[in-house]
Amino acid sequence: MRIAVYPGSFDPLTNGHIDILEKTSKLFDKIIIAVVHNVTKTALFSLDERKSMILESTRHLNNIEVECFSGLLAAYVKEKNACAIIRGLRTVTDFEYEMHMALMNKVLIPEVETIFIIATHSNIFVSSSGVKEAALLGGDVSSLVPPAVFNGLTEKIKQMK
Ligand code: PNS
Repeated sequence: MRIAVYPGSFDPLTNGHIDILEKTSKLFDKIIIAVVHNVTKTALFSLDERKSMILESTRHLNNIEVECFSGLLAAYVKEKNACAIIRGLRTVTDFEYEMHMALMNKVLIPEVETIFIIATHSNIFVSSSGVKEAALLGGDVSSLVPPAVFNGLTEKIKQMK
């Protein structure tokens, strides 16, 4: 069975992530979305909130699992017997960060490949941080995120007031 891990903060999941998942779910038998506690970022949603929005938003894909994870990605990927790490690429700005991460993971788990998927052109500008900022400032982000995430954002913003 060919298993891939798609790791990320997903704070929150956007249509850009869905785009990457729809493309890669055809390439692997199983994709494990690893919702990671990124120590370098302050999160808006808890890991469990992110997981539940992802589960709701990926119901149309039948080979997706969602797990929360904190620790070393390389160890997690090895434990899951995955052959690949999936990452989405939008612009050259993403590339430098992604290349460093891929090379680091290559040293730690040489048997695993990082697969970069280029975002569809209409999603090039979509980022979790942009979506959060616009939503928190009252912008309508309904065209950028799945409905479950839009509802989650609306609820979160209500709670913060
Ligand atoms: O969506 P993000 O925040 O860009 O995802 C980055 C993430 C979570 C994939 C990366 O920070 C990560 O792999 N974190 C786990 C800890 C780890 O293994 N760090 C070393 C990476 S080379």
